[in-house]
Amino acid sequence: MKVLVVGGGGREHSLVWKLNQSPRVTKVYCAPGNAGIAREAEVVPIDVTDIKALVDLALDEGIDLTCVGPELPLTLGIVDAFEEAGLRIFGASKAAAEIEGSKVFTKDLLAKYNIPTGSYKVFEDPAEAKAYLKEVGAPIVVKADGLAAGKGALVCQTIEEAEDAVRLCMEERAFGDAGNRVVIEEFLVGEEASFLAFSDGKTVLPMATSQDHKPIFDGDKGPNTGGMGAYSPAPVVTPELFDQTMNEIMIPTVQAMASEGRPYKGVLYAGLMIRDGKARVLEFNARFGDPEAQPLFMRMDGDLVDVMEAVIDGRLDQVELQWQDDATICVVMASGGYPGDYEKGKVITGIDEADALHGVKVFHAGTAEKDGKIVTAGGRVLGVTARGKDIPQAIERAYEACALISWEGAQYRKDIGAKARKFL
Ligand code: AMP
Ligand code: GLY
Repeated sequence: MKVLVVGGGGREHSLVWKLNQSPRVTKVYCAPGNAGIAREAEVVPIDVTDIKALVDLALDEGIDLTCVGPELPLTLGIVDAFEEAGLRIFGASKAAAEIEGSKVFTKDLLAKYNIPTGSYKVFEDPAEAKAYLKEVGAPIVVKADGLAAGKGALVCQTIEEAEDAVRLCMEERAFGDAGNRVVIEEFLVGEEASFLAFSDGKTVLPMATSQDHKPIFDGDKGPNTGGMGAYSPAPVVTPELFDQTMNEIMIPTVQAMASEGRPYKGVLYAGLMIRDGKARVLEFNARFGDPEAQPLFMRMDGDLVDVMEAVIDGRLDQVELQWQDDATICVVMASGGYPGDYEKGKVITGIDEADALHGVKVFHAGTAEKDGKIVTAGGRVLGVTARGKDIPQAIERAYEACALISWEGAQYRKDIGAKARKFL
């Protein structure tokens, strides 16, 4: 069968890599892809938001299954458009993707169904929002309601910072219409983990545990990014916490979405804050995590196509997922200056040498090919992913591989996976 992956980041490279391992797949397409994906799939230069062109591509090429990486096309209704055209597609419908597309929707849903999360209040008026900040004090979190490319959650240590955040969203309109409403949310402390599951609208099939590293610098310092590294399994999610998360968060959320007339099909990704052995929801995403997908797919046994088809056909109850005992870790190498301004077009060396190391796979994110060379083309550039018999060995291999790769200004965290050590 022919499959199409929509997107062009590290997550999509790992999807292409995993789908290519399926004995049922004869050809993988990716739109728009990147330089690494171009070596493993046919890349087509269509933007992820050009849904009509993607539908036409799938019809023209006889694509049997499409899989969507990023959130934006999901919230724009790519799944609905493909289904209307009679095409098979894996991902959340527009109505279901609202769980990522609107923080107001999600907080209201969690409150209505008593699913554990921090307390919050919604504002449409900046003056009222600021008055409330004075009442509750800091630390506090201000979030733009809509999608803001991962930049819309502002963790504020002082009331002044929080007022600035309200101004940024609502008066300066830094995130456009996404900031028409803000959620002001209780600041939660603890350790974060990512909890991903497949859902066919009824059955929830959890993936292995994983943990992201959002801040740019070691020790979780500096501004948040899309994610600077991830690993699996994440021992902070103990078996008890895993069961609690399934029973109090994941299953109730899928049931709630069904009750709301928004059956949830695809990947449900809960960002959790864990404290004293209890998990609460920070946010939901309607897709695989990036970079969590990279270490997860490296550990996942079996045919991903079978799982995706079971989701589409509503028979996930018949599927069992198997995970290798190995640990995996992905270290993201980024452009100098990211998550702020950065230059593109820097020549990257050492990728092939790193890739050749035992147990290592270098997934590309923001890369392009120019004059036969691989150059940087984005903030997050590579996801250097390695397996090991345990987390320390996986860490050692990943960093051995990173040391072989260089370009002008390259930066990466040196402590990915370090949080797991206290549990080992
Ligand atoms: P979000 O876009 O909602 O995932 O938020 C991005 C990041 O901001 C999270 O991964 C957390 O590190 C942080 N964050 C979001 N909400 C809260 C909260 N209520 N308390 C503490 N940190 C938060
Ligand atoms: N790794 C965070 C995200 O995918 O949103």
